[in-house]
Formats: sequence, structure tokens, C-alpha cells
Amino acid sequence: MCVSARATVFAFVVSIATQAIAVSPGAGLLAVAGKDTGAASPGGEAAPRAVMSLSTGWRFKQASGLSGVEGAQFDDSQWSEVTVPHTWNRLGNEGTERSPQSNSVQGTGWYRLRFKPPAAVPGSRYFLQFDAVSTIADVWLNGRYLGRHEGAFARFRFDASAAINSTGDNLLVVRADNSRPQPGAATQNVIPLSGDFFMFGGIYRSAALIVTQPVHLDMLDFGGPGVYGRALAIQPGTATVQVTSRVVNNASSPQRLRVETAITAADGSVVASSTAAAGPMTPGAVSVLQSNLDIANPHLWQGVRDPYLYRTVVTVRSVQGVELDRMTQPLGLRTLQFDPNKGFFLNGEHQYLKGVAMHQDRPVKGWAVSDQEDEEDFAILADMGATAVRLAHYQHDQRSYELADSAGIVVWAEIPLVNKVSFDGSAANAALAANARQQLLELIQQNRNHPSIALWSIANEVDLTATQTQGPSRPTALLKSLKELARSQDPDRLTTFADCCEVALAPRTAEGPRTADGVPGTAPRDPIVGIADTVGYNRYFGWYYGHFGDFGPMLDQAHERHPQLPICVSEYGAGAALTQHSDDPTGGPINPHGRPHPEEMQNLYHERSWDALRQRPYLWGAFIWNLFDFASDSRQEGDLTDINEKGLVSYDRRIRKDTFYFYRANWSTQPTLHLVGRRHVDRPYAVLDVKAYSNATRANLTVNGTEQGATSCSGGICMWHAIHLQPGSNELRVTADIGGTAVSDSLQWTLAGTPSVVRIKAGDISGYVSADRQRYGSDMYFSGGEGKGVNRPDIPDDKRIEVAASDPRLYDSFREGEFSYRVPVPDGRYQVTLKFEEPAAAAGERVFDVLVNGKAVLKRFDIVAAAGGKLRAVDKTFQAKAQEGALFIEFRPVKGHALVAALSIVPVADGRASR
Ligand code: GCU
Repeated sequence: MCVSARATVFAFVVSIATQAIAVSPGAGLLAVAGKDTGAASPGGEAAPRAVMSLSTGWRFKQASGLSGVEGAQFDDSQWSEVTVPHTWNRLGNEGTERSPQSNSVQGTGWYRLRFKPPAAVPGSRYFLQFDAVSTIADVWLNGRYLGRHEGAFARFRFDASAAINSTGDNLLVVRADNSRPQPGAATQNVIPLSGDFFMFGGIYRSAALIVTQPVHLDMLDFGGPGVYGRALAIQPGTATVQVTSRVVNNASSPQRLRVETAITAADGSVVASSTAAAGPMTPGAVSVLQSNLDIANPHLWQGVRDPYLYRTVVTVRSVQGVELDRMTQPLGLRTLQFDPNKGFFLNGEHQYLKGVAMHQDRPVKGWAVSDQEDEEDFAILADMGATAVRLAHYQHDQRSYELADSAGIVVWAEIPLVNKVSFDGSAANAALAANARQQLLELIQQNRNHPSIALWSIANEVDLTATQTQGPSRPTALLKSLKELARSQDPDRLTTFADCCEVALAPRTAEGPRTADGVPGTAPRDPIVGIADTVGYNRYFGWYYGHFGDFGPMLDQAHERHPQLPICVSEYGAGAALTQHSDDPTGGPINPHGRPHPEEMQNLYHERSWDALRQRPYLWGAFIWNLFDFASDSRQEGDLTDINEKGLVSYDRRIRKDTFYFYRANWSTQPTLHLVGRRHVDRPYAVLDVKAYSNATRANLTVNGTEQGATSCSGGICMWHAIHLQPGSNELRVTADIGGTAVSDSLQWTLAGTPSVVRIKAGDISGYVSADRQRYGSDMYFSGGEGKGVNRPDIPDDKRIEVAASDPRLYDSFREGEFSYRVPVPDGRYQVTLKFEEPAAAAGERVFDVLVNGKAVLKRFDIVAAAGGKLRAVDKTFQAKAQEGALFIEFRPVKGHALVAALSIVPVADGRASR
């Protein structure tokens, strides 16, 4: 392992991991080991530990202000019976109204469970293990207070030996509190203080009683397995692994022990082993033993290509050889390098990490998800061809890291220090800093054995709130202490964090600069990029701010500004609603915090953004925000409620949005051919471009069985231009041969109108059906100019300016500038109606000509003069002849910009316009 001068490369060797084992028949009691307790023996001896799942039989009530609940006499007969994992919250639904079934109550939930422990040898130790309780857990056993855990995402254990009734009934009581953090709240010093995700309350991961012998591996090391491994060196012929075991003597007398450490290959054969004598250990002592083992011809963990896993098995025996405890952890040997100029290297081989970010929730269940659901999520991730995952913004359950280990997916793991470190912009107070450090130690101790984890992230957008409120931000001290803690606790991994707001790279938004340090008149903000070993940039060019084309230059600037810093993109993404569509997502502005969110905009956003990212080899990777839609009570967007819909897959995992296939075509080697736009069935325009996402080199299109020809595909995109639909239903079919595999895809589109009637709503990204039931498609067939709205997209309905018109909505957007429309219609005579309103200029300030097929139809046109004022509708109608299948309408500014709000083109037959 070497860390050369900060200037250049970070290189690391690491590894170890986890695994569960056999289960005994009896419900609830796992003879061996439940989920990742790892207590299995290569020799198949009976497990020294008993793990009793505490999943069923809980009584639950969500209420605040209750007292005496921990007492045996408390009457919970009217409470509901629940199974753990459990949450009382439920959030996120289709539609624009919150579903009556939603429950977004943040407060206190009480759980009571009666249980009998398994039979055990005298002097056994009893540990209550909770894989996660949100957000604060207070635990009582038989009325005795065992303690409190502050943090919603990590496993914690209490030694219940003094309180337990080992031969009879026990009453376990848990109070879970997910109050919204604010000054004075119980959660005021528990991170996250805020975040764009909902904090589901409850015992939302597994709970168990673990019974060990008096001498056992440490159960109270920040919830870790008590056995940790690190590869000290990896050379082609040999690797040296150091295994650290923490042994605890809870017997009443000193103990002499034997600690056996073995490393087994995937087939179970032992490839290295050692035995060390320990003790005499005094009662209550914790002994830390280290043994170095050499593995000949190590088989490396090679990511998705070959995620090879060994296992480390530590067995604690008495000097008589009686097995007292055992822990099994998988081992993965690999080296990691982060080079500021060349990117990421796994075992010396360059990899551009193709990443996605994920939250841990599902519809209805919230965070109380199952292993099967995690497995499904990782199968979807692998199917898309991703090679890395950012498990955001907190510690996920063990199953997720195990799945990453065995699938070879590189993991960005993080603690939930999100948006701010205090409520007033000051530095973090001691209590919050201590909590962040605790959550970091839990993350590391519980997960350091996963070879998939490459980095510890210590924060996400920690100065976002200050940036948005133009307030002060002082996270430096906390970030520095977290970085140092992570490096001292686990010197084999780098630290990172995700930045939203570094000033020099600040995108300009409507509300002015997104960050402040150095921007006059705004509160001081700590420059933080560079505190961690690497940095990830969360940037949303072309969605929240700026333009697609700004992304690349911003990253180049960052690279220039931080030449020694390995950089990645830790978030980029755009929303997509499955029921909202656009004929051309470049037609008008999007409201990133509202509705609509046409699916096509997400496609365009990712096509452009990925194009910028893949051309920057200094990036060690990029993480799409987000693989799945997820719950957030601050989101009323697209066609959903309480859901952030930047996912490439729907919240219920049923629908893979088009963009999913864009990445599959670019990232996966599996043959991919996907026609884009299958949910935009009802089409307003007869002539349009057809797109497919594919990793084919060429693909063929037919429409209603008629050949449209083959086209070459590049960058995962195959395009057919100016395809004609027939009125009514159209079947589109694409075929291709990908590496000898014939693939095809098809979809149905319906042309609502006829090819000779075209109505366009300029500057509008989703179109409109007018009061007189005419369908105006979203802005299309234009070249030049800019699509805009009379109101900024994020202006709430009750504050919107209205145009004076019989149908104001038809005039609330426009194309402005110097532009033209080439509208494809069959040759013939047409009545053209152009609709105008003046959003801002005074009379004489905006004057322009309109030409059709080069002939002026409006000269020195001034809307205000024609309409009799600003924000007043005026239409101009004239007849024109379409030639070569199109009408070419030009808008040429004379003074200021030209402008049009809508265009209506209908054929004229026997001198009269058809409707
Ligand atoms: C941020 C943030 C995420 C959030 C995302 C978004 O960058 O880190 O938590 O969900 O932006 O706005 O969708």
C-alpha cells in the first residue's frame, strides 16, 4: 500500500466480507446464524451462538405523550399487531393529491414484544440486536432501561444479560422517535438535520436476540462483527492478510483461549490458517488479537468481471478445544487507485465507474424492505450495466453491501450529514459532531469487511441550505474531524463527499448565484472542496440551472482548480413522469420543482449529460441520480405526490423508463434495442423523428409493416428522421442483429389528428387542448429562438400572470428571438393562424416581420399595437401554399425579438378552412 505525495495517485489494498449461514427448522430460532451474524463453522459443529429472530408478535402504537409503556402492567391490548421490519409511515403515490392512505406523521411509535429466550448454558450473554430503528430508539427489557441509540441507519446492540429472564417470559419495549429535526426536538442533534428523502419511522430492519457463550467475539464494537481483515500486501504470487479479532471474556473467572483464524476459498477449502493462544483474560476484558496470513496465488476481487470472494473464519475455543464462538466474514482481495488525471483503477486496471445512486425505500413499505427486494434492485442495477452504486445518503442494510460484494459492484458508502451541520449556519455543536462521528464509526465497523466498498463519504451538499438561504455555513471543523476519523479507523480507504455549491463553479440560477463565498453581500461560507481525499460533484445543468453544455466546462474548471484531487460526478439527473410527454423536450422551459416532467426531457438530459461525462477521463466515475424514484415529502412533481421522480425506474420497480435503456445500450454488453416513447401513445403530429436506444451498429424500422430503412446507431442512439404516421393506430417495429443475436422491439402510436392539420403551442414543452377542443402539440418543427413562458415555470398557480384572451392558457408561452418553423404538411392551400401576446415590451419595442415560403405576410408587426396593449391576445390569419411537403414560416426581428405564442395550420378546401 502506498500513498505518494498528495500531488498524484492514491493506491490501496483491502478487503473482507460477510455471509449468512444455515437456518434451523424452528420458527424464530436460528440454530446457527441469522442474517450476517456470520457464526458458521467450516467443521459444521453446532453453532456456538443462538440467534432468535424477533420479527413476529409485536404490539404497536404511534402516539406521543404516553407513559408507563415499559411497565408490565401497561395495557396494549388495543394496539395493532405488527411484524418487524415495520414502519408506521407510508408516503408517495401516483396523482397530484396525497393519497388518504399516506401517513407522514413524524413523532413517536411504541413497540412491545413478549418472548421467551432459547435455552442456553449458564453465564450465557444476551444481546438485543436492531439492524436499524428510525431515528432515535429507547429500549427497555422487563421494565429496565437498556439504553438509547441515536441514528436511523446503523445496527446497534444492547447487552441485555442483566435484565433478561433467561428461563421465562420477557417484555421488550422500544420507543422509536422520528421527529422532524428542529431546535428543541429530540432529534435536534441527530444527523441528518434535513434531506430530500423522507425519514420513515420505526423498527424498519430486522431485530434479533443473540445468545453467546460467556466468552465471545465482541458484540459491542459499534455494531460490528468483532472480526476485521485487511490485506497488507497483494503481489501476483502472494497476498498477506491481517485479521483482527476482538474477544470478550464475560465469564466470572480469567480465561485462557485459543483463537483459530482460517481463510477459505469459494469452494470452502482452507487456503491459509493460524492459531494463537490468548489469555489469561481477566473477566470483563476485551482482547484484540491480530494474525497475519499469507495466501498463495491470490484470486483477486475483479469487480463485475470476477467478484471472487474468500471467507475469513475466526473460531474462539477454550484451551480444552471447546468451541466458544465463531464469526465468518467474506474476504475480497483487490487494489484501488484514484488518480486525479487518469481516474479509477481496480487491481491496476482502469475502470470508468458507471454508477447509479439508490435510496432504500419502496411504495407502501417505505424503508421496511426485504432481502428479496434488495436482490431485485441489484438485479435491475446489473441489468442496466452499472458497475458502481452510491448507497445514498446513509448506511443501507447489510444485504445491499453483500449483494454489491457478490455482484462486483463498487460502492460509495456514506453517512447522512446532509444539507447543513446546524440550524443557524454556525459550526456543528459538540452533540451533533459526536453523533456524526458515531454514525461514521458504525458505518465503518459494520461494513469495512465488504470489498465492494471503495470510499467512505462524510457528507452530502453540507452547505446547500446556507446556499439557498444565502446564510453562513461553517462545516469545516466537522468535515476535517470526520475525514481524520475515517482515515485513522480505516487507513485502507479514501474519504469523499458530494459537493453542490462550490462557488467558483457556481451555476447562475434565476435566484442569483448558488453559492456565496466571495460573492459580495452574502454570508461567509467555508470553502470545503479538498477537505476529503476526493470529491464528487452533484450538478444538474439543464435541469435546475444552466444548460446541458455547461456541464463539461464546469468539470474541466473543477479539474483545473483542484489538480491534485480525484474528481467524480456524484449526482446528475432529471425528473420523468410516465404519463407526461413532449414531442420535443427542447421546446420550452421545465419547472424542475413542479409539473409537468415529460419523460422525453429525462431522455434528452441524460443523452447530453452522459455525452459530456464519458469524454472526461480524469473523472473516476459518474453516479446517476437516481436508479429508482423515491419518497420525499418536499416533492410535488411530474405526475406524482411525495416522490422524487428522477429515477430511471418507477418507485414500484414495475416500469423501466426510456432512459434506463439508453444506459443499458451504452453500459451493458447485453443486446439492447428499445424504441423510445412507448408511453407517449397519443401523438399530435403526423411527421416526427423515431428514436431507439441500442448497442446495435445498425437497426431497421418499419411502420405499419412498411420499410422505413436501416440507420446506423452511435452512442447508443439510432434515429429515423421525418417518419410519417397514418391517422389512427400505427405499429412501429425495429429489428437489429447484435453480435449474431436478432433483437426487435415494437410499439403502438395513435395519430390523433390528420397529417394536414397542425397546431403548435410555442414555447410549451407538453402541449395543450384548447377551450374549443383543438389539440396543440408541444413546441416542435422550430429552429432558433427560445421557448419561454409568460410566467417563470416555478411560479405557483395563484401568483401567475394571465393573458387577456378567451383562452388565456393558449397564449401563456411563446418562442422568442429570430426563428422559423418548417411545418411538414402535404402540398396544398392552408389557412395559417398565428397567435400572439406581448409579455413585456412596450409598443414599438418589439417589431418583426413574418414570412411564409419567403413571402412577407406580416411586415413590421408590433403586437402591442395590434392587440391594444401588453398581455392581450391577438391572432393573425392568412392563407398560404405548402410546397415540397412543408410550410416554411420565418420570424425576422426588426426591433427587439420576434415572438409567436401558437400556430394553427388547417387545409383550405373550396376556399373554406376545415376545422
Ligand atoms: C441533491 C441531493 C439529493 C436530491 C437531489 C435532487 O443533489 O443530494 O438528495 O434528491 O439533489 O434534487 O433530486
